[in-house]
Amino acid sequence: RQRRLIQVTDQTGVLADVRRGMIPAHVYNDREIFELEKERVFARAWVFVGHESEIAQPGDYVVRRVLQDSFIVTRDEEGEIRAHFNMCLHRGMQVCRAEMGNASHFRCPYHGWSYRNDGRIVGLPFHQDAYGGEAGFKRNGQRLLPAPNLATYNGLIFVSLDPDAPPLEEFLGDFRFYLDYYTKQSGSGIELRGPQRWRVKANWKIGAENFAGDMYHTPQTHTSVVEIGLFREPKAEKRKDGATYWAGAGGGTTYKLPEGDLDERLRYVGYPQEMVDRMKQHLSSDQLKVIGDDGFMISAASIYPNLSLVHNWPRVADSENVLPFISIRQWQPISEDETEVLSWFAVDAEAPEEFKALSYKAYLMCFGSTGMFEQDDVENWVSLTNTAAGSMARRLRLNSRMGILEDDTEVIPQLTVEQFHGPGSAHTGYSEYNQRALLSRWADDLETPMSIVATVEVGGPREGAQDASAKISAAAGDVAA
Ligand code: FES
Ligand code: FE
Repeated sequence: RQRRLIQVTDQTGVLADVRRGMIPAHVYNDREIFELEKERVFARAWVFVGHESEIAQPGDYVVRRVLQDSFIVTRDEEGEIRAHFNMCLHRGMQVCRAEMGNASHFRCPYHGWSYRNDGRIVGLPFHQDAYGGEAGFKRNGQRLLPAPNLATYNGLIFVSLDPDAPPLEEFLGDFRFYLDYYTKQSGSGIELRGPQRWRVKANWKIGAENFAGDMYHTPQTHTSVVEIGLFREPKAEKRKDGATYWAGAGGGTTYKLPEGDLDERLRYVGYPQEMVDRMKQHLSSDQLKVIGDDGFMISAASIYPNLSLVHNWPRVADSENVLPFISIRQWQPISEDETEVLSWFAVDAEAPEEFKALSYKAYLMCFGSTGMFEQDDVENWVSLTNTAAGSMARRLRLNSRMGILEDDTEVIPQLTVEQFHGPGSAHTGYSEYNQRALLSRWADDLETPMSIVATVEVGGPREGAQDASAKISAAAGDVAA
């Protein structure tokens, strides 16, 4: 099956078309491509599974998925963050059925094996009668399968199913510079509320692309939100004055701010002076220059493959004043035509309580399951996913070349380092540089087979049977060969 999938991809030139910005429409609803994404995108990339603040105390846990693989993401009694594959070592029952909570142990509902929150087996009913004790089944060293890789950045917890994945920081690359604006406004980082979860009949890639760089849809899709005066800027067309950037694993959009110094510009989007002062201590001088000197305020962004962030500043209550909010969201694929959206509200942990309350309100007005932007956006995504399943879509190449001329030169030249102090490449004006960057990375992954991963045996009798706590190692050779 693997071999056939690759041939299909090669023969029809799907990936080559993606790279030149002519997107085969069916990639947004194609079973075979989704099967390949499972194997080569989601079994390889670093995938977000939660934030440290969600599991602040020993025993706190959340259950999160990487596609179909459920993980118990927990803080053990020693304070260490762990992600256990949520499948009982006995007959495979889901050990933890709750979505979040606090537990020192997890007991499987099927036959009652129990595990400490560090993953180790602690109880096995009728161990002596059923297995002849340790002679038949060695409990020692047996534990729930750990995620092959786990790492955090600014409290964001990621796992990778690839034991040979590059370090998280390397994977994120220069996008870390931009991630800090959302997650490091003070020394305490962010705290989260949520997630709200809901399903949309849309392909997961569409949301990721939209948040990465689509400033062009705002004047059309979100006209009404601007018309009712939710924003201080009277014209959605102003978005073209912002910059888009791409660096490392992700990219995003910005708004152009009016004249002013750093303090004035941060206050313009609604940050109280005490938060401005903390940002000045905790962001780097280049991070501050992007706002204070260059006049760009970060807005939406996506990290490959399926994590997005938002920063916006609508009017809240009846006030003329605007107030910023941050949202973290994940496009969790269910199938080629369905996505579960997870949407968190995030706020600087040191922000004043009144700010937190109003910022939450600002978030709920705009995003989340009832948010005005969310509702506007999703109708487009559902409709295009639906149409992408038909046979005509296989004949259509969507033009995703905005921002470049026929000879690949840029419509508006890239911003210089003096104009934009952030890393990566940045442009002003409407463009699809970021959407192309995201899908090119996707194409690279689809073309690259994964290593075969060694299996883990549970308390098995054979010579050399592996301890489930051992790091899962990849063997040489590839699936497609
Ligand atoms: Fe978990 Fe049997 S499946 S104890
Ligand atoms: Fe939108």
